[in-house]
Amino acid sequence: MSRAKTLGRITGTALKLHKGGLLSASHCRHVSSSTNLKDVMEKLIPEKQKEIVEFRKKHGSSKVGEVTVDMMYGGMRGIRGLVTETSVLDPDEGIRFRGYSIPECQEKLPTAPGGEEPLPEGLFWLLLTGEIPSKEQVDAISKEWNERAEIPNHVITMLNNFPSKLHPMSQFSAAICAMNSESKFAKGYSEGIHKSKYWELCYEDSMDLIAKLPTIAAIIYRNLYREGNPPDSIDNKKDWSWNYASMLGFEDPQFVELMRLYLAIHTDHEGGNVSAHATHLVGSALSDPYLSFSAGMNGLAGPLHGLANQEVLVWTTKLQEALGGEVSDEHLRDYIWNTLKSGQVVPGYGHAVLRKTDPRYMCQREFALKHLPNDPLFKLVAQLYKVVPDILIEQGKAKNPWPNVDAHSGVLLQYYGLREMNYYTVMFGVSRALGVLASLVWDRALGLPIERPKSFDTPSLKKLVGAS
Ligand SMILES: CC(C)(COP(=O)(O)OP(=O)(O)OC[C@H]1O[C@@H](n2cnc3c(N)ncnc32)[C@H](O)[C@@H]1OP(=O)(O)O)[C@@H](O)C(=O)NCCC(=O)NCCS
Repeated sequence: MSRAKTLGRITGTALKLHKGGLLSASHCRHVSSSTNLKDVMEKLIPEKQKEIVEFRKKHGSSKVGEVTVDMMYGGMRGIRGLVTETSVLDPDEGIRFRGYSIPECQEKLPTAPGGEEPLPEGLFWLLLTGEIPSKEQVDAISKEWNERAEIPNHVITMLNNFPSKLHPMSQFSAAICAMNSESKFAKGYSEGIHKSKYWELCYEDSMDLIAKLPTIAAIIYRNLYREGNPPDSIDNKKDWSWNYASMLGFEDPQFVELMRLYLAIHTDHEGGNVSAHATHLVGSALSDPYLSFSAGMNGLAGPLHGLANQEVLVWTTKLQEALGGEVSDEHLRDYIWNTLKSGQVVPGYGHAVLRKTDPRYMCQREFALKHLPNDPLFKLVAQLYKVVPDILIEQGKAKNPWPNVDAHSGVLLQYYGLREMNYYTVMFGVSRALGVLASLVWDRALGLPIERPKSFDTPSLKKLVGAS
């Protein structure tokens, strides 16, 4: 057996064994019956505030780790420096949303009629409250988002006037930023609203913003790839993912199911990743949710973060062009070594925190095994999963040789006809809003202060550690 196999390739069965594992969700609270999410939050927030005041009173000066010089030069990797309530990432097991693993979310969260995948609306409810919502509660969110979906005219005009050479992510981020004309938080702040009410306005802006994102994202798509034909209007009886797929121009029910899964699993990955951290950081200056989320999207647009899903497809397409359809493992190995020798990374592999195969990769793989097992591109992605980890281990640099979420998402979108890879990170961004904005609401609810860590220059750092 290869080293890779013994070290961390996760099988479908192993993934299922994680249910009820490590960080079980049994700590989760009672389930609220109200279908009004804001009312539910209003009850939860004082309880959580009290819990944290008491915790800090008793343990506020407890040490949680130490910081080395290498950590400071090394992207703060391993520094325990943030509190994020919505999700926690275990290096071996992967993400848990409020204590629930991805398979548990697939099992427990409400689905659309006739569907199997969790509705992102349900995951948003879970991320905000820690509670698994009922179908009625999820339907209430779909309805509310549909009602809040209208886009201001100046944003439509701006999008329609962007040149087609402007990357979809730049268009997305600019549109989000320009929508802060609608910010209830910014308006309330300028009118002198009391600090204890910040979370409510942050919640209102977050709900408005999430509701508007699919339309903005669809306008960008249709302007760039469908000759500027405007998207269909929102169907008030349908869910958020159905409407997004339909506005893009896709109606295959299997693609809509894929969208529900895709938009659920990309929501959140604890607090230290670039898009989550940037949103939190900018929000800590009391910039409104539009400005904060736009900052997060600029980070997601980087090739080492969200843009990796585009990079994977670009790289895989070049690989196919160079090596043809059916490729031997040996030719694949040579190609991968050439990528590494030319100083590039293998996109879709490695992670700053994860040390095993990303469960977000695994659930997309399971979707592919179920719906497109014979697709040639899926077969290539599966072959890469067999070949790449051993090579990265042999090279000895990457701390994690296993695939992450981005190694698999593109192949599924390609299969259903969404072939414009430059657009993929926008879809990631639509999903990421749910996690980082849920966190932002809690930031304001908990009154977290402006973020401002201490930095040093090299001479003062040398002095600090007694270096000559
Ligand atoms: C995700 C990523 C940015 C994490 O970075 P990190 O925490 O610094 O990763 P590591 O500590 O393992 O990096 C150590 C070395 O291995 C290299 N490495 C990591 N992943 C690699 C990969 N997929 N291919 C080639 N080299 C890789 C790093 O570039 C680094 O090299 P250096 O010492 O020459 O600078 C990195 O793994 C990467 O670039 N992956 C490819 C892009 C990607 O898929 N991004 C999406 C992440 S969800």
